[in-house]
Amino acid sequence: MSTQNTNQLTITRPDDWHLHLRDGAALEAVVADTARQFARAIIMPNLKPPVTTTEQALAYRGRILAALTKAGGNADAFTPLMTLYLTDNTSAEEIFRAHESGQVYAVKLYPAGATTNSDAGVTDLLGKCAKALEALEKCGMPLLVHGEVTDPSIDVFDREAIFVERVMKPLRRAFPALKVVFEHITTKEGAEYVRDAEGPIAATITPQHMLYNRNAIFQGGVRPHWYCLPILKRETHRLALVEAATSGSPRFFLGTDSAPHARGLKEHACGCAGCYTALHAMELYATAFDAVGRLDKLEGFASHHGPDFYGLPRNTGKLTLVRESYQIPEEVPFGNTSLVPLAAGETLAWRAVV
Ligand code: NCD
Ligand code: ZN
Repeated sequence: MSTQNTNQLTITRPDDWHLHLRDGAALEAVVADTARQFARAIIMPNLKPPVTTTEQALAYRGRILAALTKAGGNADAFTPLMTLYLTDNTSAEEIFRAHESGQVYAVKLYPAGATTNSDAGVTDLLGKCAKALEALEKCGMPLLVHGEVTDPSIDVFDREAIFVERVMKPLRRAFPALKVVFEHITTKEGAEYVRDAEGPIAATITPQHMLYNRNAIFQGGVRPHWYCLPILKRETHRLALVEAATSGSPRFFLGTDSAPHARGLKEHACGCAGCYTALHAMELYATAFDAVGRLDKLEGFASHHGPDFYGLPRNTGKLTLVRESYQIPEEVPFGNTSLVPLAAGETLAWRAVV
């Protein structure tokens, strides 16, 4: 149980169920930020080249823990939960191998071309991946879904809602027992589908989609640090996401989608998609829950619903948040360049005690 008064909140230690850590110097720069606040994180496999085999996932896991140690973090207190990147050629054997490794917890679907490093993604889910999906369903491992259609004729703001009809519903009709996490939902349609659908489905929600609508991208000029995929939507959608995340429903849980890109690649003629939120993730979520008077629902969302859905034990440690003003840094080091966190320079009313 969380203990709460108006100025302090102590919750079960949270987990991040959707995280991009990158590799090499970038990994070393960011991994300790996540490990400070979270006990576990689902690690996205969209490296270059993508993590498509169990062997690659285990090697990547080793690099993550080594980088954390090198960055001064405690590798004994943080568990990376690895994932595989689904391709048209992923075999059922590879899925079973992943499951048996005990270190791979899910498989990620990127529709080809939908987002950063998704070129090797899936071109025809039910046509090309039926065997892999069957294997996932059999071993009870979740399929994590980037839910946007890639049809260039579809408006970028409509790609998630149309994905629900064209891909999500047929997928779940064909594999009704498959555990599915609809990642980083951004729309009312996505939230309502997950809330009402039959069978094992859940969704992650990012801090940026709870705190901002699409006006944030254009306020006073183009602001690339508010650009991520799926893109921020209009206010009605933000309100639906806040309602879902703070409803207490076990189908909604925390996934930051923290996605670091060097400052120069964000502030660019063709800027990369992704917001860096690992630095201040729990501060951002606490701000969003506090804004609607639902801090009492933060613990379920951040610390209970995720492990319950994945069939993992809840953490035993704690995390305390205090109502204290926290100024988000303008930038943080990122290898030999820098990284601009979401809402850089702004002040939040909550600080995580770490
Ligand atoms: C992610 C990235 O940069 O890897 N970007 C993003 O905008 N969220 C990819 C993704 O999750 O779509
Ligand atoms: Zn992501």
